[in-house]
Amino acid sequence: MKRDALDHFVQTLGTLFRMQRMYPPGTKQVYQAARIAAQRLGAWGQGVRITLLGNDTIVQDRRIEVPPASCQALFQSLRGSGWETIYLDPGATEADLEAWMECLISKKRNSYRSPKIVAGSLNLARRSHPPSVLTNAVAGYLEFFSHTQEAFSDLESRKPGGLIRAREIVCAIAARLAVGKELFEPINELKDFDDYTYTHAINVCVLSSALSRLLGAPPDLVNTVSLAALCHDLGKKEIPKEILNKEGLLDPEERRCLEKHPACGAKLLLDTPGVESDSPLLPVVAYQHHMGTDRSGYPRGPACLGGRKLHFASLVVAVADVYDALRTVRPYRPALSVAKACTILIGDATSGKLHREYVSEFFFLLKVLAPGRRVTLTDGNQGVILEVQKNRVLAPLVRGDDGKLYDLSNPSAPALSGVEEEAD
Ligand SMILES: [Fe+2]
Ligand SMILES: [Fe+2]
Repeated sequence: MKRDALDHFVQTLGTLFRMQRMYPPGTKQVYQAARIAAQRLGAWGQGVRITLLGNDTIVQDRRIEVPPASCQALFQSLRGSGWETIYLDPGATEADLEAWMECLISKKRNSYRSPKIVAGSLNLARRSHPPSVLTNAVAGYLEFFSHTQEAFSDLESRKPGGLIRAREIVCAIAARLAVGKELFEPINELKDFDDYTYTHAINVCVLSSALSRLLGAPPDLVNTVSLAALCHDLGKKEIPKEILNKEGLLDPEERRCLEKHPACGAKLLLDTPGVESDSPLLPVVAYQHHMGTDRSGYPRGPACLGGRKLHFASLVVAVADVYDALRTVRPYRPALSVAKACTILIGDATSGKLHREYVSEFFFLLKVLAPGRRVTLTDGNQGVILEVQKNRVLAPLVRGDDGKLYDLSNPSAPALSGVEEEAD
């Protein structure tokens, strides 16, 4: 029944596209078609994501085998525009839909961004799988995406069902990770998706699940860490959107406001039925994930648990959180490359902000510091990694450009300071 509302909306989009191609802007026909489309979107009541990969069309999490006749011209035009992902906010008005269609028809831009509609490419620079494999992986990821949207909406309104849904997502993610690594590919491919809240939550969950497992956590703890990772930023709901999406640097007042999100998240989770009794770690991780191993982060002061160590889950989630945030497009900067993000992680591990051993294992997971990779050392030298040992990923054997061998596990040797971009 609910799915019907979505199908109806997509069909009205197809009609709106036809009308806007036939009639000039401002005419009655266009206005009516846009109004009906906006009404249908309202009736569906959630955001709508359309993904186009090769000849495959995915609406939300479902691959459309045969597009309805009313939508074929629209999908064809979307493919021609190079837009592989479109997200329509449930609050998009007729004017928003009209403006977006106008841009599609004029074929002027490679991407489109308005407060309610975002369209762009998936950035498929490293398409290493055949499209059907990738389509399945992306469809699977989008399934998590729509479930996470629903779970968050329940959690934010403190409904008991939210926790149950979140647990189901974590179990499904764990099962997918156990079978293969297909979830890692969408994490890389979907960086242009605009729903930072949900993609970030899923990515941090997937990365934390894999990292905690690699660190030898028992299955129950892996699940708890993953659940805590999924919910770590729920407190951002309380932060004004103008601050979260600000394009420039935050002023001190805005920064103070943003830094309230760990406490807001912990409170929201403590108020959620079932959390205190069944998942008491969730508010702990929400509260601690920005504190830093060396306590250089926030919340600060005597309230931050005195000299007690941060929980294992908070330390793991912090590594995954920093990496995913760096790899994602933000309003104030583009997504950083893997090399740049890893260089920042190395700096954070060296300064003590992130747990050095966990960052080291994280690199093992990412396979970034592998033989052949060019790196920079703290003495300014550069070189190529010759050998990496599993438990010492941050201290590889390097052949310097000066011809010398550097065993970075030797305390008198320089340390690793950065990862160079991969040569094309
Ligand atoms: Fe956060
Ligand atoms: Fe985060």
